[in-house]
Amino acid sequence: MYSALTVLFGTLGGIVFALMKLSKSRILRFVASLYIEVIRGTPLLVQLFIIFYGLPSLGINLDRTVAAVMALSINSSAYVAEIVRAGIQAVDKGQTEAGRSLGLSGWQTMRMIVLPQAIRNILPALGNEFVTVIKESSLASIIGLKELMYNAQGTATTTFLTMECYLVAAALYFIMTFTLSKILAYVEKRMRSESRM
Ligand code: ARG
Repeated sequence: MYSALTVLFGTLGGIVFALMKLSKSRILRFVASLYIEVIRGTPLLVQLFIIFYGLPSLGINLDRTVAAVMALSINSSAYVAEIVRAGIQAVDKGQTEAGRSLGLSGWQTMRMIVLPQAIRNILPALGNEFVTVIKESSLASIIGLKELMYNAQGTATTTFLTMECYLVAAALYFIMTFTLSKILAYVEKRMRSESRM
């Protein structure tokens, strides 16, 4: 499924941009900020059109599937970057100071003390992002990617059962997003009770 790939690439990209934004290098921070602002400040539909219809004029012809997953991943990574950055920054500075004064290195403190706590901040927001990705993937139908929305449109125009087809599509999207958010709520609950031990 296209959304699953997007979630994978979007999360990996998001983590990279979040780390760039938190890095000591001004250039890396600037590049990451520019990327995040531009991507979040332009519509996903336009990004999709640039990649699928625009790139061919530069000689880059992408398959519909590749173009859609790329546009969605690029878009999602900018949102994930902010989620990860905020999650890491929300961990109290004192935690880092405590780790460092126990003699841990910067990276050890990050890995053993800050990240486990940051993940608890990040997970709920990341879950929302996954739900958003599933819904936004319907935009890929516009470039002719044969996903759920595309099939609903096709069936609607051939059978004239317009209302029925779109209601079924809505129901299917809802089943996916609702199931996902239930799973995420469960994971979150488990993590919270573990952290109390
Ligand atoms: N419809 C929004 C846009 O055009 C999609 C934003 C995607 N949001 C997200 N959290 N990935 O930009």
